[in-house]
Amino acid sequence: MFVIRAFVTGSTGLLGNNLVRLLLQEGFEVRALARSRNKAEAILGGTGADIVVGDMNDIDAFAPAMKGCDVLFHTAAYFREAFAGRSNHWPMLQRINVDNTVRLFEQAQRHGVGKVIHTSSNAAIRKRSDGKASEESDVLLSSEAPTPYARSKILGDKAIAEYAHKSQLPVTTVLPAWMFGPGDAAPTSSGKFVLDYMNRRLQGVFDSGFDVVDARDVAAAMLAAASRGKAGERYIIAAHHASLAELGQTLKLVTGVEEPKRSVSRPMIYAVAWLSETMAALSGKETNLTVDSVRVLTGKLRTSSDKAKRELGIQLRPLEETLRDTAEWLRLNPLGV
Ligand SMILES: NC(=O)c1ccc[n+]([C@@H]2O[C@H](COP(=O)([O-])OP(=O)(O)OC[C@H]3O[C@@H](n4cnc5c(N)ncnc54)[C@H](OP(=O)(O)O)[C@@H]3O)[C@@H](O)[C@H]2O)c1
Repeated sequence: MFVIRAFVTGSTGLLGNNLVRLLLQEGFEVRALARSRNKAEAILGGTGADIVVGDMNDIDAFAPAMKGCDVLFHTAAYFREAFAGRSNHWPMLQRINVDNTVRLFEQAQRHGVGKVIHTSSNAAIRKRSDGKASEESDVLLSSEAPTPYARSKILGDKAIAEYAHKSQLPVTTVLPAWMFGPGDAAPTSSGKFVLDYMNRRLQGVFDSGFDVVDARDVAAAMLAAASRGKAGERYIIAAHHASLAELGQTLKLVTGVEEPKRSVSRPMIYAVAWLSETMAALSGKETNLTVDSVRVLTGKLRTSSDKAKRELGIQLRPLEETLRDTAEWLRLNPLGV
């Protein structure tokens, strides 16, 4: 029987662990890159994934483990840390999301991997002035990026496109919206948001608008991209445009917890975010409420997944199902991993 071997980076992450499970379910053999064997075993133990310990800081150390793999799914990124408060994240953003991502692809090709499915972000997409949903061709310049993280994704995509063109390595890129879903062990900002909601720690909402998507649907899109995606193509994966108030209404429906009613003005929320970052910097604690996160949430970027639906045949589940399953997973896994 013919078995496809996949190498998955970021296997302990929200997207990565959902992808590993899906690939195994579909009959793939999976080598799963993780920084910590203990964490990977807690999250993926018993799934049949072959855990490879390695760090994106040192690609060459784990690169030989890609030998014999047919496809590389790259989900690892300097991401959670980049939103975790006020310090200079740029050196790591440049290193992990740009330089070492290209190095990873070089090494994958050197070890015979035939195809790469890369994870960018819809943060790399420009908001249209005509009010329509942005498409893959609406690319932001790195100088226009709303956050350093977005800038690293834009520069990463550019460096990858140049490398793929030069080397003829087939690379297909997915650009997810804000991902929610079960398996958010760390947790990411969405898991923290749902936890804060369930624990009644959200004080109010502010005028906002952003796209959300289920990490399981992004995983399915990456699988579809491996068989149906075209080399060099980019696919936005975004399911619903929502505001914080709308997320609150759906969360109320699925958790029974009353949503916060207070409405906070935009200048006030920026001031609160600045203060929250300052307090976090002074106390050495993390905060979910940062100036960068407010900028993204208030950006009202609306992106279209029409191309992915058309070319990859993806389906995106209802917001209610995503939030119900996210809340349920967080309730059953109270300490994360
Ligand atoms: N979550 C979103 O809303 C969102 C939206 C758009 C795009 N994206 C992109 O989607 C991808 C997956 O994000 P996610 O939500 O799954 O984030 P996540 O839960 O934070 O997962 C990130 C994964 O990358 C791993 N990682 C980080 N630094 C690494 C390093 N130096 N070496 C090896 N592994 C490293 C993490 O390992 P540890 O477990 O050891 O930390 C984790 O497995 C990322 O490329 C992100 O930029 C995310």
